Amino acid sequence: MGVKRKPKFIVRNAGFTDAEGIYSLIKAYPKELLPRPISDIAENIDRFIVCELKGAVVGTVSWSILPEIGHVRHPAVEVKSLSVKKSLRKHGVGRLLVEAAIERIRILNPSQIICLTFTPGFFAKMGFHEVPKVSLMHKLYMGCINCAKYDSPFTCPEVAMAMDV
Ligand SMILES: CC(C)(COP(=O)(O)OP(=O)(O)OC[C@H]1O[C@@H](n2cnc3c(N)ncnc32)[C@H](O)[C@@H]1OP(=O)(O)O)[C@@H](O)C(=O)NCCC(=O)NCCS
Repeated sequence: MGVKRKPKFIVRNAGFTDAEGIYSLIKAYPKELLPRPISDIAENIDRFIVCELKGAVVGTVSWSILPEIGHVRHPAVEVKSLSVKKSLRKHGVGRLLVEAAIERIRILNPSQIICLTFTPGFFAKMGFHEVPKVSLMHKLYMGCINCAKYDSPFTCPEVAMAMDV
């Protein structure tokens, strides 16, 4: 019987050649993730981390700075566009990506790291706790205004979560 080898995941900063892979990985899960145009991905490529397996992008995460939440010297940072290829989930890739993003974001000295998510159980394991949606009001209006799925951010089942750093 053959020995089952653990896949060799490489987590690293993204580069421009990853943009198409990232685009496809975000677009593949429209129920959980807001699609992002490839121009937006390329423009913000220095705010993306990818997980690579055999030369292919199989996971990604990014972040945005929210100076409107917190103080100008300590804005909040939002973790977003977290996506792991379905067939490779529950292998620790999501954790590797979020831990790498937090390590990078910590250097910025933000007031807090936030996320809006349909998978609060996963983010709770990463050290996030649920916060009232109203505390992220600005983010809700900026981010949710373009979403056609729900009448209001407050009827959307996404959960607001935060981590103090
Ligand atoms: C959420 C997601 C990134 C998790 O990726 P993953 O690689 O499967 O996660 P990991 O294997 O690193 O899991 C880390 C821990 O979280 C747990 N976990 C994973 N997915 C979970 C979920 N949906 N709900 C609750 N816990 C979850 C794992 O069991 C593991 O727990 P452990 O450390 O006690 O063993 C992945 O399911 C995904 O891409 N989903 C679609 C996109 C999405 O929802 N993104 C988040 C939007 S902000």
